[in-house]
Amino acid sequence: MSKRVLLIIGGGIAAYKSLELIRRLKERGAAVRVVMTEAAQRFVTPLAAGALVGERVFTDLFDQAQEFDVGHIRLARECDLIIVAPATADLMAKAAHGLAHDLASAVLLATDKPVLMAPAMNPHMWANPATQRNVATLQAQGLRFVGPNEGEMAERGERGLGRMAEPEQIRDAALALLTDGPLKGKRALVTAGPTVEAIDPVRFLSNRSSGKQGYAIAAALAELGAEVTLVSGPTALAAPSGVTRINVESAREMLAACEAALPSDVAVMVAAVADWRPSATAETKLKKDKTGLPAITLRENPDILATLSKPGKKRPKLVIGFAAETDHVEEHARAKIAKKGCDWIVANDVSGDVMGGAENQVLLITKTSAETWPRMAKEAVARKLAAAIAAKLSGKSPGRK
Ligand code: C5P
Repeated sequence: MSKRVLLIIGGGIAAYKSLELIRRLKERGAAVRVVMTEAAQRFVTPLAAGALVGERVFTDLFDQAQEFDVGHIRLARECDLIIVAPATADLMAKAAHGLAHDLASAVLLATDKPVLMAPAMNPHMWANPATQRNVATLQAQGLRFVGPNEGEMAERGERGLGRMAEPEQIRDAALALLTDGPLKGKRALVTAGPTVEAIDPVRFLSNRSSGKQGYAIAAALAELGAEVTLVSGPTALAAPSGVTRINVESAREMLAACEAALPSDVAVMVAAVADWRPSATAETKLKKDKTGLPAITLRENPDILATLSKPGKKRPKLVIGFAAETDHVEEHARAKIAKKGCDWIVANDVSGDVMGGAENQVLLITKTSAETWPRMAKEAVARKLAAAIAAKLSGKSPGRK
């Protein structure tokens, strides 16, 4: 496995963690080269970064000696992965708009290698629609993201989404991208968590799904090298490293996000999509004292699994659904394959404590086979399923006549 990493350090207080990241990458045998922006050098010195990588650090697009020696085009190409950490709002804006007036942005414009961004900024800067637009643009171009995480900010008393992912998390996401796993080059779409269907601005219908199983599947597919998009309803879980998470609330938003994420080689629909939504969402809060009990009429939500399973150019090669059953598990699961048009069903018996719990007991049903798996941790189920998916996409069973 080749592991040449070009680390671009942007100008943020999190730059000190990038020095730690250099060490974590080198421990795993990566050769690391460093580019620092001018702002980055206000937070950590090229001397410190240079001492850790054991070679000079690149800082200047217009320095004749640096450009003749290893120019920006060579920096952009002589690596297997570029990591931008911290990826500041400014650096992401430059990359999203194709600006190239300093070494870091010129390298990002010139590269044809995978790029992993580890954003770090104040929560307001992260939430700003301008930043979110830039992130969406970069994701659509295929750049990968790890973090940001939720937590304490450098500014006293501030908390929120914007902390840079920890060095180990960035390293793991980087290694996943560098690994030649059996799903390398394959795209995977996973849904997870509940959906939330608004009754009025403050009330909703939802369910108890924790998202654990779906998140574990997204992580396991990424570990095997797949490019994973995780479309998630509200959960308390952090996005697995190396996975692109798209947050949604309602079933209709989930369907739209899934369709936007196609084409994909495999789709694993794990979300507990609400079957119904209120037929109308009140624009203002329903008042208790008005005319007695409000009547909430329901209408059916779109079936995401059935929609994605429909034959067509964009249908993923392998579409997998989940089925939570309490009785006649195999029989009901087989009926579900036929009804939804999917290829496999992972059926679980939810008569016990599976929902929200750490373990799962499943039956993998294909059109031609049924396999009962022993009760195991949700992560283990995820790894076993990811391995089965890899085997299927490479032309080896299960479920192949
Ligand atoms: O019909 P049922 O809810 O039992 O089907 C479960 C499977 O269908 C799961 O894979 C779930 O993610 C998916 N599903 C869906 N959209 C719905 C309902 C279920 O994708 N509206």
